[in-house]
Amino acid sequence: MYRGETNGSGPDVRRAEAAGQVWQRCLAIAEARRAGQAVPDAVAVSLPMTLDPAERHLLELYEPLLRLPSFTSYAVAHLGQSIDGQIATRTGDSRYVNCPANIAHLHRLRALCDAVIVGRETAAVDNPMLTTRLVAGPSPVRVILDPDLRLPAKLQVLTDERAPTLVVCALEHLDQAGRRFGGSRVIGVGRADGLLDLTELRTRLAERGLYVLFVEGGGVTVSRFVEQGAADRLHLAVAPVLVGAGRSGLQLTGAPLMRDNLRPAYRLFQMGADVLWDFDLRGPATEQPGGGGSPDTGVRFIG
Ligand SMILES: NC(=O)c1ccc[n+]([C@@H]2O[C@H](COP(=O)([O-])OP(=O)(O)OC[C@H]3O[C@@H](n4cnc5c(N)ncnc54)[C@H](OP(=O)(O)O)[C@@H]3O)[C@@H](O)[C@H]2O)c1
Repeated sequence: MYRGETNGSGPDVRRAEAAGQVWQRCLAIAEARRAGQAVPDAVAVSLPMTLDPAERHLLELYEPLLRLPSFTSYAVAHLGQSIDGQIATRTGDSRYVNCPANIAHLHRLRALCDAVIVGRETAAVDNPMLTTRLVAGPSPVRVILDPDLRLPAKLQVLTDERAPTLVVCALEHLDQAGRRFGGSRVIGVGRADGLLDLTELRTRLAERGLYVLFVEGGGVTVSRFVEQGAADRLHLAVAPVLVGAGRSGLQLTGAPLMRDNLRPAYRLFQMGADVLWDFDLRGPATEQPGGGGSPDTGVRFIG
């Protein structure tokens, strides 16, 4: 999982062990949050002071999630995209846009969050498991947005027992959804401008103890979270590949004038060949081009 791992007892092994300790500490903090225990003010305080840059960068990447107090609703969305903004080819193939370091990052996000959310199209096209397999840590509750009950019945998330699955539909289909998936597995949500109201969804999930949410795609779903103001953080992992005509990542209405568009504060992480932009959608916006720029533009490296 971490760059430089080798057999033996040299510095590479010690570095891998330390990185393993950092990740175990991340898991313990997430567990404490779920259990309603106080989260340390300074996450880094209880970690060895001898962290090397790779370990520190790993901790810094997840720190916004680790600092969350218990019972706080929070949503982090992620898209892996080509440099021309596509998240899949025109046939829907997206294995893999990103490099292994980014795939491991997705699994870490699953382990730190209470629920992972995908749109109906991703569930149908990818038939994903949405479990935590590449890293240590618990699998989240799987949540599929299927407003009009168009989901095929034989998907893994609906038939396997690897983790609980919830299907979210529009309120008017709740009875039908209950008959189809089982009453305890469905959530009905009202509509806002014809779409599922994602702020209401966050409330419904919090009522079930699912506070920290990982919106894993696809582009339509992440775009709707951003447009409805229901995402707190956005990870865009840009891979050096050209896809051409494919499936778009973010699709936002946007402002007619460039100066009015959103420039959220960001941090940069290099993950193998990919660059992850970590946008804080609640933080202060950055300056216009030629202005002061983001307050935190240093690049951190994730192995
Ligand atoms: N590279 C990546 O990071 C990544 C990640 C995930 C998936 N993918 C790829 O992306 C493609 C699928 O993405 P996509 O953008 O086409 O679709 P998607 O986001 O997976 O699913 C979109 C559908 O989900 C439902 N939905 C989501 N949010 C909703 C809301 N607020 N209100 C109502 N309905 C909502 C709607 O279902 P209805 O159509 O039934 O109304 C909508 O059409 C696949 O090819 C997959 O392989 C790539």
